[in-house]
Amino acid sequence: MDVMTIFIICLVTLLLCIIYFINLFRPKPISGIKIADNYSWLFGHLPAFQTNKNRIHEYRCHLAMNAELQGDTCFQECLPLTSSRVDILTPELIEFVLKTEFDSFGKGNYFRDKLHVLLGDGIFNTDGQRWKQQRKIAAHMFTQRLLNEKMIHVFTEHGHRFIDLLHTIPEGKIFDLQKLFFCYTMDCICDIAFGLNLNTLTLSVPDAQEFVDAFDQANYLSSLRFIQPEFSWRLKRLFNIGSEKKLKDCMKIVDRFIYNIIQQRQNDDTTTNNKRGDLLTLFLVHEDKQLINDKFLRDIVLSFIVAGRDTTATGLSHLFYHVYHSYPDIEQKLIDERHKNNSVYLDAVLYELCRLHPPVPFDLKIALKDVYLPGNIFIPKSTIITYTPYHYHRLKSVWGQDAEEFRPERWIDETNEQKLKTESQYKFIAFNAGPRLCLGKTMALLEMKTLASMLINEFHFELDESTKKFNTQMKFQGTCAFEDGLPMTVKKRKNK
Ligand code: HEM
Repeated sequence: MDVMTIFIICLVTLLLCIIYFINLFRPKPISGIKIADNYSWLFGHLPAFQTNKNRIHEYRCHLAMNAELQGDTCFQECLPLTSSRVDILTPELIEFVLKTEFDSFGKGNYFRDKLHVLLGDGIFNTDGQRWKQQRKIAAHMFTQRLLNEKMIHVFTEHGHRFIDLLHTIPEGKIFDLQKLFFCYTMDCICDIAFGLNLNTLTLSVPDAQEFVDAFDQANYLSSLRFIQPEFSWRLKRLFNIGSEKKLKDCMKIVDRFIYNIIQQRQNDDTTTNNKRGDLLTLFLVHEDKQLINDKFLRDIVLSFIVAGRDTTATGLSHLFYHVYHSYPDIEQKLIDERHKNNSVYLDAVLYELCRLHPPVPFDLKIALKDVYLPGNIFIPKSTIITYTPYHYHRLKSVWGQDAEEFRPERWIDETNEQKLKTESQYKFIAFNAGPRLCLGKTMALLEMKTLASMLINEFHFELDESTKKFNTQMKFQGTCAFEDGLPMTVKKRKNK
């Protein structure tokens, strides 16, 4: 073979390899579903997402509204090296994915692999039988009786600590209110999950702070896996370097803390445990001893902390931002309501807040097999189905002409203003819907309501915009806390 032939063979082989890798890399849209604007053949929507990464929810909202204008019920977003993503935009499709075809859509390996390090096989991260068992046992924790008898006391007790702390802050001094909400909800959820008072609000338990810092870091680092190429975080994990090394170190601290508590509990006698009535006890005393082991208990407790802590803290942060900044007339209405014997308006404000500013702005499920959505839309196995409370709740086709307006009154029954109006689960999806509806929905609303009314009654807050422009940018995580916190000043209200 002469040199020229060898050169041509090498060149062709190289070209074929390049074509192969480009094809492997580039997004592969599903046919029959409209692709969102700004799509490039090689990089899909990656450049558009990068350009808009600081306002990703607003940007995707614009895509959804465009699709809605064209009468589409869903649209596609495509990224290299990941399965196709279809965002659904009607109550009919939401109900189909979250309820009607429940077994065809799940967390799948896409979700599970990334969060396994933190959540293990806990309720949040599993499908099928394992999910069902945990959901059934944990549901006992969220009965109306326990909410009234136990949880309300937990929220009020920690609320008093919050108030005491705010009294120590001098008038005019700027502090981060969001950080305090994260401490409050951590203290409440740990009390409810394992009957332990971490007291992170007052920093009085030294070990607790180490645990909370490691937990926060681990939560952030594991969510980074969702925006890194799959091979990149897996390689870093293999070689134990970079963010994956940090994640592993944080998880050692988190696990040591949780396993210690579990061990202490196992040494306690059954009567002491029974009296506690917390989530860990509920599982410890369960008869199915084959199911319950230390790893199972660790997974369930951590899953509840993840589910219940950041979500509620983010909800409270947005509530206070909007009451004291965007919609100032609400404060007086909430204060006036304190003299009535119901809290319908506060309830309505909380629902409206979760509608327009949902603490979990984005969610997804994986198609576990080939499925046809209503409208004969073919969805191949492994497609990522996204549903996005942030823009879904702003669609006129779902919420009417005033969908983008913050109007708590829409939640109040027109015929009886003492009563809240109920909306379909598939129209209001801030707490998910169907068999996987958030287990802690009532608890979260009660927690936010208890603290909000305690604080608003006692204090007046002002958003600090003097030192720097307040940054409305959201953190990149499952929840959308403010990137730079919530800088506020506080003063005691005079005419209570
Ligand atoms: C404002 C606060 C909250 C919001 C917006 C919220 C929202 C959600 C959402 C969207 C999901 C579905 C996630 C998924 O796709 O699997 C979910 C699930 C869940 N939430 Fe919440 N949540 C809140 C507070 C809480 C609290 C306080 C708890 C309890 C401690 C809790 C416990 C759970 C559990 C256990 C699940 C998993 C349910 C299952 O998969 O069967 N949540 N929540």
